[in-house]
Amino acid sequence: MDRIPVAGPWLTQREAEYAADAARGDCYGQAGRYTKRFEDAFARHVGVKHAIALPHCTAGIHLSLAALGVGAGDEVIVPDVTWIASAAPISYVGATPVFADVDEATWCLTAESVAACLTQRTKAVIAVDLYGSMPDLPTIRELCEAHGLALVEDAAEAIGSRLGDRPAGAFGDTGVFSFHGSKTLSTGEGGMVVTDRDDLHERMMFLRDHGRPPGDKYFQNSEVAFKYKMSGVQAAVGLAQLERVDELVARKRDIFGWYHARLRGIDGLSLNAEPAGVHNSYWMTTVVLGGALGLTSRALMDRLDGRGVDTRPFFAPLSSIPAYRDTGEAQRAAERNATAYRLARCGVNLPSALCLNEGDVARVCEVLRNVIG
Ligand SMILES: Cc1ncc(COP(=O)(O)O)c(C=O)c1O
Repeated sequence: MDRIPVAGPWLTQREAEYAADAARGDCYGQAGRYTKRFEDAFARHVGVKHAIALPHCTAGIHLSLAALGVGAGDEVIVPDVTWIASAAPISYVGATPVFADVDEATWCLTAESVAACLTQRTKAVIAVDLYGSMPDLPTIRELCEAHGLALVEDAAEAIGSRLGDRPAGAFGDTGVFSFHGSKTLSTGEGGMVVTDRDDLHERMMFLRDHGRPPGDKYFQNSEVAFKYKMSGVQAAVGLAQLERVDELVARKRDIFGWYHARLRGIDGLSLNAEPAGVHNSYWMTTVVLGGALGLTSRALMDRLDGRGVDTRPFFAPLSSIPAYRDTGEAQRAAERNATAYRLARCGVNLPSALCLNEGDVARVCEVLRNVIG
């Protein structure tokens, strides 16, 4: 029997046709036309003024922090449980990551967990919409405004999520998205940074092209900066995916619904939350094991692996991984962030690839029920 994959995209003839068209004709007078169409359509989708297509989402966080003027001596608050890409750009600009705890139900930052990490040196907050879930961003934004902090919304995993009628990615000074091959909207590798602020848009456009403004013809770079551009072929795939985004998100919600119907009511198991007012795009259906089951996430993963089911662990707290754990910030976080540490011990991402059908999910649930007895 085939293995059940944990993540993967849903590509159709439309993506292939747009990519072939870009490969044939995205040059000379037509160069950049797919990138422009993708950026414009993406900005409309998120409901913001500007979108910049990038080689990956990490570049979007890096550009955001650089454009916001975050640098040496500054601290940036980031959730302890997230992919390292949320935090690594803090180090790229010479600032210090401060790892905040997350909420038990949403797995995201709260205003309280951010407040617990504020110091005189705090310059910005990176709020992550983990696995498609959403924090209470309006309250976090108020806190940021009260303390003069910038807010970056890391919506890498959350295209299609909403809080009220506002799409994920629209709540910060900037918002960033990933189109990595595992994501709901995929260009293989790729990303987008969005903003409503003209000043940040202008600065990021300049920084992402080796310190030259768009249209510059004289190559007199006025600063040493970065090279962060998406190719036309990737943008063509992205545009095709964006035209299908409702269908992609609906499939993610179906996958979650198939799991929910089979796993709800099992004592000691909990799944992703969808608090009132939130529309969760469920990038990864994730199960958290209650202590009474006597099973760690590692043990569950190993047993599912032996039965042909691929999974991933809930993100380990950043403060626990070798890249950070010997720093003073990490040691303080390890003492403070009880929820992050508990979730990491007990959480497992279940197969959520867009190619799954209800039969695949039923098979995962049957194996899972057998494993937990
Ligand atoms: C929460 C989060 N932030 C940032 C990133 C970085 O995305 P990319 O790999 O496109 O740079 C990811 C990617 O997995 C992510 O999950």
